[in-house]
Amino acid sequence: MTNNELYDVIFKRKSVRKYHMTQLSQDTLEQLQAYTGTLKKLDGNIKVEFTILTSEKVKGMFAIKAPHYICIYSEKKDGYLVNAGFLMQQLDLYLSAGKLGSCWLGMAKPDKEIPLTRNGLEFVIMLAFGSPEEPVHRTDKDQFKRNSLSEITSIENAEELLEPVRLAPSATNSQPWFFSGDSNEIIVSRKKLSMLKAQLLGKMNNIDTGIALCHLWLSADRQGKNVSFDFQNGQAPQGFEFMTKVKVG
Ligand SMILES: Cc1cc2nc3c(=O)[nH]c(=O)nc-3n(C[C@H](O)[C@H](O)[C@H](O)COP(=O)(O)O)c2cc1C
Repeated sequence: MTNNELYDVIFKRKSVRKYHMTQLSQDTLEQLQAYTGTLKKLDGNIKVEFTILTSEKVKGMFAIKAPHYICIYSEKKDGYLVNAGFLMQQLDLYLSAGKLGSCWLGMAKPDKEIPLTRNGLEFVIMLAFGSPEEPVHRTDKDQFKRNSLSEITSIENAEELLEPVRLAPSATNSQPWFFSGDSNEIIVSRKKLSMLKAQLLGKMNNIDTGIALCHLWLSADRQGKNVSFDFQNGQAPQGFEFMTKVKVG
């Protein structure tokens, strides 16, 4: 799968919540598992592992019924949630580009018999996936329910770069991101949350930021540009929390 194929599907992808319960072929599952080893890393110092579970291994009221789920386990270092979002969104796009359905599941957990830690890494989040029993793609960009560009950025003349980022999925479609600075050096921040909301959405909004960074990387890559991330130094606008500064060039 090329970066361009991932980029193109950004404009069509959607969450798929209805699946045929037939298992995908062993070959398809092995290809997905092999693909996890090729993902672009946001932070190479954070160890992660991916594991694929079948339907009966994920239960609970928060799980969508699907034939398969892919889970990410991670070292719990600074930035691990953003990193998990960045990596798992590549899988979401990979599946969608292969005309398979997928849906992020923020609340679902593996069944009790599956440990939440593996080789010292902790379960973070999973995607449901399988053969879709509903259209796998949107046919028109208007079908995305998203904030407008002017609501998520103060950067002028960056439509082409930021439009794919605007379309990124997020938990409860919260779209917590804001992009300031300029198109060569973008400050990525996210909405500050009240204490109560932070308990509910804090983890998810970190993962959402990683998803947006994945779309930003693919967008820059499409324009033949590299991105580098500085997670330490940057000033967020009022009401927002600094997440990272992205050098595009
Ligand atoms: C981190 C994260 C967690 C999510 N959790 C769930 C979930 O538990 N159940 C669900 O049905 N959708 C879940 N979603 C899907 C979002 O609701 C969906 O991405 C958003 O509404 C935008 O719609 P779209 O993906 O169809 O473009 C989640 C998405 C993200 C990014």
